[in-house]
Amino acid sequence: MTEPPPVPPEELRPASISTKLSPQDIDVPGRKPVALSFATALVWLLIGSFFGDVASLKFQYPDWLTGSTAWTFGNVRSAHLNAMAYGWASLAMIGVSLWLVPRLIHTPLRLRRLALTGIAIWNVGLVVGVGSILLGHSDGVEWLEMNRRYADPLFVLGGGCIGISVIATLLHFRSEHLYVSIWYIASAFLWFPILFVLGNLPVFRGSEHAAVNWFYAHNVLGFWLTPICIGAVYYFIPKVLGRPIYSYGLSLLGFWSLAFFYSLNGMHHLIGGPLPTWMITTSIVASMMMIIPVAAVAVNHHMTMVGRFGALRYSPTLRFVVVGAIAYTAVSVQGSFTAFTEVNRVTHFTHWTIAHSHVGLYAFVTMVMFGSMYYIVPRLTGGEWPSGRLISIHFWLAIGGIAAYVIALSIGGVQQGLAMLDPKQPFQASAEAARPWLVVRTVAGFMLTAAHGVFVAHVVLAYRRKGQPGSVSWHRPRPIEISLAGKGRP
Ligand code: HEM
Ligand code: HEM
Repeated sequence: MTEPPPVPPEELRPASISTKLSPQDIDVPGRKPVALSFATALVWLLIGSFFGDVASLKFQYPDWLTGSTAWTFGNVRSAHLNAMAYGWASLAMIGVSLWLVPRLIHTPLRLRRLALTGIAIWNVGLVVGVGSILLGHSDGVEWLEMNRRYADPLFVLGGGCIGISVIATLLHFRSEHLYVSIWYIASAFLWFPILFVLGNLPVFRGSEHAAVNWFYAHNVLGFWLTPICIGAVYYFIPKVLGRPIYSYGLSLLGFWSLAFFYSLNGMHHLIGGPLPTWMITTSIVASMMMIIPVAAVAVNHHMTMVGRFGALRYSPTLRFVVVGAIAYTAVSVQGSFTAFTEVNRVTHFTHWTIAHSHVGLYAFVTMVMFGSMYYIVPRLTGGEWPSGRLISIHFWLAIGGIAAYVIALSIGGVQQGLAMLDPKQPFQASAEAARPWLVVRTVAGFMLTAAHGVFVAHVVLAYRRKGQPGSVSWHRPRPIEISLAGKGRP
């Protein structure tokens, strides 16, 4: 048996993981499922952006597209949410997980055909589900709008196939130690199916149903989107910098306190709703306790970066992932603040909540996914990114767009809420207060859509130039290699 080839510097692993196979031996067998997840995720990103733009424009042109029931605001908004959450974000995260799990436990992906089939079925579920919303067959339950009878069985089947492939891979782990990213990713694959089935059980009625609905909807954020993205951040920051994570103890604290406190948070979506006070109060206390996992993760990531911020100039992966990590802290602090009864009274029925949603789902989840793709796609194509300029344009459009989106809706939301609570003002005044900020949101939405167009075009270009060296100043290998080898650049 020949010795495996030496590991090149940019492939340095977190220090705690031992290796017998080369990274290429591990990556190659799983390429197809990862590529299919990414390709379809990007298609859903474009579709979701289109629905988001249409929904946003309807605030400026309420009479636009009113001739057909398919294009009412309610339908388009739900189509946007589902295309983005279960299409873009989930498929991107599935792709990242199918790539990361084998890397982290040092064994190739198992049951690859099953994973491929699962991804295809998941996509059929999305087409049926989003179609069912537009055709007026929505279940009318937030975050579970896609039709329970037609679409949901496809998600269970497709997700089941993908999950079995991930579990089969996990069962073959060869490393001496389970790195923290694995805890997060593996637990997300355990939690999400339980939540999805529970959230869809047709046995709850009235306010009981509202409680189960928000238990599901909150935990899909906390136990599906969040752990996979935190797992990715825990992988990519040490990987690109070539140094181990700052503290193993803090990563343990962050993981277990997330598992404990996040599950109790759900009822903060129903503050003021018709539920027992103890349920709401527990969720508010748990929202405050979220400071523990959030601070643990933030300190750990920050301390790993300390002294190496210069690498942000050279690594697109690091840039997007670090922005995402900072946004995780921001959305969580904002969330704990929003859970205070006095704050929630002002913000609940306003655009503030939409701003918070997009700090979470865009600035955190989407940016981490972009960063992860910047790392993984060249390893799928065997070539570099063709253009440093396109990466820059993507980054700045995304940053500018999301900053404008969030700032505008946060200010507009508070003004709207204060006007709504003022008995001297008619309801119309609250809509007027938010109006200019909604125009800014539409402009921001178009910036984000342009960013997505640039990114998708760049990925297509990278695939077409498979195996060829790129002209990327971003990925100029020297500075990264120097910093990875721990010799030169800080
Ligand atoms: C400490 C962590 C967090 C806390 C305490 C928190 C708190 C809250 C609260 C109180 C609301 C309800 C606002 C209302 O309806 O009045 C909310 C909504 C929301 N949060 Fe968070 N949040 C946290 C983290 C996150 C993260 C990490 C994400 C994204 C990954 C996220 C995404 C959302 C979304 C999408 C909604 C809107 C749900 C809807 O109405 O459809 N949050 N959050
Ligand atoms: C092109 C960029 C985007 C635009 C223009 C956009 C626009 C919108 C609009 C207009 C709404 C409805 C707001 C309302 O009900 O008043 C919305 C809601 C929502 N969007 Fe986006 N969005 C974009 C990107 C994303 C992304 C990438 C995600 C997820 C990965 C996402 C997730 C959501 C969610 C979960 C909601 C529901 C929020 C809530 O109920 O609190 N959006 N978006």
